Amino acid sequence: MLTLNKLLNIIKIDIKNSKKIEELDEIRIKYLGKKGILTSYIKNLKNFSFEEKKKYSIMINKIKKEVIQTIDQKNTKLTNLILEERIKKEHIDISLPGRRIKNGVLHPITYTINSIVNFFLKLGFQSLNSPEIEDEYHNFDALNIPKNHPARNSQDTFWLDNNRLLRTQTSNMQIRILKKEKPPIRIIFPGKVYRNDYDSTHTPMFHQIEGLIVDKNINFSHLKWIIYNFLYDFFGKEISIKFRPSYFPFTVPSAEVDIINHKGKPLEVLGCGMVHPNVLKNVGINPKIYSACAFGMGIERIIMLRYDISDLRSFFENDIRFLKQFKYN
Ligand code: DAH
Repeated sequence: MLTLNKLLNIIKIDIKNSKKIEELDEIRIKYLGKKGILTSYIKNLKNFSFEEKKKYSIMINKIKKEVIQTIDQKNTKLTNLILEERIKKEHIDISLPGRRIKNGVLHPITYTINSIVNFFLKLGFQSLNSPEIEDEYHNFDALNIPKNHPARNSQDTFWLDNNRLLRTQTSNMQIRILKKEKPPIRIIFPGKVYRNDYDSTHTPMFHQIEGLIVDKNINFSHLKWIIYNFLYDFFGKEISIKFRPSYFPFTVPSAEVDIINHKGKPLEVLGCGMVHPNVLKNVGINPKIYSACAFGMGIERIIMLRYDISDLRSFFENDIRFLKQFKYN
């Protein structure tokens, strides 16, 4: 057996050389465990005299205490080292820029429809959606459009089966509403319409918004008031507005409205008029008691005029560079 001092030195070197908590645990077991070396020294004392027993057991206990203390110190040191290394590894670089979340915007058509609808809701209008698959009666006949009118031609209209078609105008809804509701009526109806056309100012599908007012004593000045206020709200007060006589089978008198922008050029924005007495008769409303006015406009067209967009097709190409330009507040 080694002398106690030598043993202590060896234990201390072992502890010093240990690099992991697990190694340290092994050292603890090796020397202090039930079958450990230091423990065997204690067991050995039984062969010694009483005096020697007393002397050595004090020494061994002292060594034991010292070993425990050294192991504990080393344990703390190793634990701190592990922690430091972890902190170093998991270090967060706060100077690294974060990942930006890109916000999308509403499509200009959706945004514009919403804002037009909001404008008219404030004036007490109701907004209604309407069917895109329509029949000849609601899209043409009841609107006083003659049987031989060129708009019915398959070159303009997408015909389905059984006299059904993709509606060519939101005016179809005038008939559906007038048949269902009793005056007074103040409704707008936005939606998709379809025409067989494709170039820089026409796409086979586009959007319109239509307005209809029916009551006793409705006259052209009501129509003018609404349209002036709407156009000033939409384009700003700098534009001037011109009503130009025109023709639509379902209105009499009819007008087209031009805005004259800062460049002095008149640009057509909408069609309107007093609803034709034939249309009112078609839906069972007495034109001697009630009168009605209506207007309809192309959404893409007014957006193009407002933002100076030259090609209608850009609305539907989904080019993010085009769409990103529309930032609303
Ligand atoms: N439906 C017409 C078109 O598509 C636009 C229009 C003109 C609607 C006059 C109306 C109106 O309500 O009164 O060209």
